Amino acid sequence: MLRLLTFLQDGDFHSGEEIGSSLGVSRASVWKQIARLEKETGLSIERVRGNGYRLPASLSLLNENRLTEALAELGWQLHFSHRIDSTNAKALALLREQGRPPFVVLAEQQTAGRGRRGRQWVSPFGANLYFTHVLAVDGGARQLSGISLAVGVAVLRTLRALGLEGAGLKWPNDLLVGEKKIAGILLELAGDPAGECEVVVGVGINVNMQEAHGLIDQPWTSLAQELGMTIDRTELAVQLARNLNEVLARQCQYGFAAVKAEWEASHLWQGRLVKLSAGANETVGVVLGVDDQGALRLESNGLEQRFNGGELSLRLHE
Ligand code: BTN
Repeated sequence: MLRLLTFLQDGDFHSGEEIGSSLGVSRASVWKQIARLEKETGLSIERVRGNGYRLPASLSLLNENRLTEALAELGWQLHFSHRIDSTNAKALALLREQGRPPFVVLAEQQTAGRGRRGRQWVSPFGANLYFTHVLAVDGGARQLSGISLAVGVAVLRTLRALGLEGAGLKWPNDLLVGEKKIAGILLELAGDPAGECEVVVGVGINVNMQEAHGLIDQPWTSLAQELGMTIDRTELAVQLARNLNEVLARQCQYGFAAVKAEWEASHLWQGRLVKLSAGANETVGVVLGVDDQGALRLESNGLEQRFNGGELSLRLHE
C-alpha cells in the first residue's frame, strides 16, 4: 500500500499500466489496491479514463528514515505508524510495556485522536501532524508547573519559523491565527507527579488540511491555508522536535519562570476582557498575564485572581 501511495503522492495522473509495471502487478490488481488504499486511508482517488489515477492534491508523506536520523541526534527514538488510534494512547501503552523515554510517536492518521476536554481531534491521513513526545521528569512540581504552556512556546516557534507571523497563543495552550485554531496540545501524565513520572506531550498541527467536511466544531485553519503552499511535514516534525527539546530543557532546569516572558509576549488575549468557565462557574475579567507556574492572572472586580488549566475554558467577553 505504501509503495502505491508513494507513487501517487505527487498528485499527478499515473496510468494503471505505469503503476502496474512499476509495482509488478496486473492492471486489475492495481484497481483492487487503489480501492483498498481508499478504504484504509479515507483518501479519495480520482479515476479518469485515458489518464489513469491521481490524488486530488499532492501529499507530503512522513519520511521515516529522515525522522529516525534527526530524532536520534536528540537522543530520541521514533515509533512510527501509518494508522493508529491516537499517538498519545500509543505512547501510554508503550510506557506500560516498559518503553523508555525520551521517544516520539508519529502517525500518518489517527482514528481516535484525542483533544482536550474529551473532544475528538480530527486526524485525516497524511494531512496534518500527529506528534507525541514522551519525556521523563524527576523534579516534581517545579518542572511540571506550566509545562503545557512551555510546549505552546515550542510549537509557536515552529510555526513562526515557517513565516506564520500572525500565529499566537491562547491560554492555556491553544495556538490560533486570529480566532482560528491551527494547533492544539494535550498533555497526559504517567507515574507519580510528585516524584518520578513521564509526561506525554501530544501536539496536533493542522498542516496541509484544506477541508474538514464539517467535522470540526470551531473555527480552524491550517498552515497550507495561511501560507498558500504545501508544507513538508517531515521537516516540520524535525523542527518541532528541536524546538521542544530546547524549550523543555529550559523548563525542566529553571521552571516555567524562564519561559514566561516569551509566552506572554505571544499571548493573543493579553489585556483583553474574557470569560473563564469552570463547569457552572464563570469569571469575567481582564487578562493580566500568567504567573511563574503558568496560572492565568485575571483582574476581576478590582481583585487579581489566579486560575490553573485543566478543564477550564476561556472565551473573549467583548
Ligand atoms: C486540543 O484539543 O486542543 C488538543 C489536541 C491535541 C491533539 C494531538 S494530535 C497528537 C496527539 N495524539 C492525540 O490523540 N492527541 C494529541
